[in-house]
Order: sequence, then structure tokens, then C-alpha cells
Amino acid sequence: MRIDVYFTPLGLKEEDLAGRGVVVIDVLRATTTIVTALANGAKAVVPAASSEEAVRLTANLAKGGILLAGERKSLKIEGFQLGNSPREMTPEVVAGKTIFLATTNGTPALVAAQGGAPVLVGGAVNFTALAERARAVFSERSDLAIVCAGRDKQFALEDAYTAGRLIKAVKKGVPPKKLTLNDAAQVSLDLAAQQGGWQDALGASDAARMLGEVGLGDDVKFCANPDRLKIVPVYADRRIAA
Ligand code: MLT
Repeated sequence: MRIDVYFTPLGLKEEDLAGRGVVVIDVLRATTTIVTALANGAKAVVPAASSEEAVRLTANLAKGGILLAGERKSLKIEGFQLGNSPREMTPEVVAGKTIFLATTNGTPALVAAQGGAPVLVGGAVNFTALAERARAVFSERSDLAIVCAGRDKQFALEDAYTAGRLIKAVKKGVPPKKLTLNDAAQVSLDLAAQQGGWQDALGASDAARMLGEVGLGDDVKFCANPDRLKIVPVYADRRIAA
């Protein structure tokens, strides 16, 4: 039985994930935003590898049913209707809409992971439901890959912490001798054991500091508040749906 963590999608090749059960994590904030939007009634979220791609994908679509969302340096992209804040994804704004989302690290990571089957999406906000689904996938396949979005092509504390919590939940009851973890999975597990909890771990990250600097500290609190949503979005055929 095997669990692999990838701290960033950098260098991931199609064959690394093809046909494997995959979980994608960008807890600050893209995957939290996606879970929240879908829980609040969005029809689907289409992740784009760049803002230009998001604009291109929507070019010929009727504007009534869609929303363009995304960030650069944490802030809303000019001309887009929404940024990347989960607190913007209220039922009044997103219900019935398809959201085309472009973020710095999160949506490129999703696009890189789309060969997985299934590709599950989550964070702290839906953690228990995500862990249950990932555990079911792992029992069936004896294999799981966790892709962290990371930050600027580097390790991100908040994503690795979430990966560690997930591994702990998924491997429960599996005899250690039967389980192979890659180095990143082992370190994630150690990290999860060392940190105090969601608020502490996420709050200690570079991403939290950066969000705080641009007045988005409430988003960090929102993203670190676990287990409020029960949906586990699945990414298939280029769209993420609940
Ligand atoms: C990302 O995709 O890099 C993050 O979600 C960025 C952010 O939180 O603004």
C-alpha cells in the first residue's frame, strides 16, 4: 500500500498520476474557495492554468450563467467579477453559476492533476468528508497521491500540514509494515504531529502572512476553520462539481 505526497505539481508527469486516486490541496485559498462555492450552489468550477486561459474559455459563452474569478498576488484580477476569497462565494452570488477560476498556484495544480481518477478537492473546511472519501479510494486501490499546490513553486506549510492530517486519517488501521510513504508523505505526517492545530499551522505559513498584509486575514481564519462542509468536489472532464 502506498501514499505519495507531491509538495508542488512542478515536474509531475502525466504518468505519475494517470489512473491513480488523487487529492489536490491548496488550503490557502483556492481549494477552500472551490469547496465553498460548490457548497453554496455553484453548478461547477472550471480551473484555468492562467487568467488568459480563463478569459479564453469564457469568450464564446453566454455571460448570464458564468462568473470569472481569480487572483494575482492574492487580489482580484482586473475585469474579473470575483477574486479568490471563499467569503465572496455566497449563495446569492454563485448559485446556479459556472465559475471559471484562475489562481497563482491552486488552479495550475488542479490542471496538472487532472489525469487522476478520481481527483478529489478539499481543505480544512471539508476535511472529515474529504478524509472519508480518500480513505475509501485508498482501501480500494491501496494507493493514493496527494498533490499540494505549494507557493511560487516551493513547499507550502499549510498544504503539507493538510496532507499530513489526511495521511493520518487515511492510513488508520493499516499495519506500518504494509505501508510505503514517499519522503514528502513521511515529512507531512511528522509536520502534522508537531503543529498545534489548523489555526496554528495555517496561521504560521508564508501564505497567511501575505494574505494578512493585503487585509485578507479573515480568509485565513475562514480557511482554517475545519469541518463545516460535507461535500467532496470531484474534478473530471475539465470541471469540478460536488
Ligand atoms: C493560489 O492559488 O496561489 C492561492 O489560492 C492564492 C491566494 O490565496 O490568493
